[in-house]
Amino acid sequence: MSEWPKSVKDAFKKAKVAREHAHAPYSRFKVGAAVKFQGSRKVFAGCNVENSSFGGTNCAERTALFSGVAELGVTPVDFIVLVTSQNPVASPCGICRQVLAEFASDDTPIYLADLRGIRERVLLGELLPRAFRNFKSDR
Ligand code: THU
Repeated sequence: MSEWPKSVKDAFKKAKVAREHAHAPYSRFKVGAAVKFQGSRKVFAGCNVENSSFGGTNCAERTALFSGVAELGVTPVDFIVLVTSQNPVASPCGICRQVLAEFASDDTPIYLADLRGIRERVLLGELLPRAFRNFKSDR
């Protein structure tokens, strides 16, 4: 774990704790995430929160992201950490990639971790090339 910046390792620890709070009785797959926003030292953690109406499920990344937006207001994302028990590591679902793209740029790092630590660093633009970000209303 030592090759990563301290702020990233601290965020990993928070994401791992949040993962334990996952409500995942249906998939039995716990996910933790942590988002660091630019200009704020605070790291926002999240877990997946499933629902018996499966479409109501919220992924860990969005839980963390929305929690940060609620407290800080709209702020650019510095980086995000995703933790699962899986190795090879899991990577964010398509919906989360798109939602992240609203608050992050193509060069925002996404750190992918298993329970032992961060295994990989990818950029949002690699996971979601040509993200749909802005549009012009027809009128
Ligand atoms: N899940 C996440 O929390 N993040 C992802 O990026 C992928 C999927 C959750 C949703 C659901 O609770 C469980 O993992 C299985 O899909």
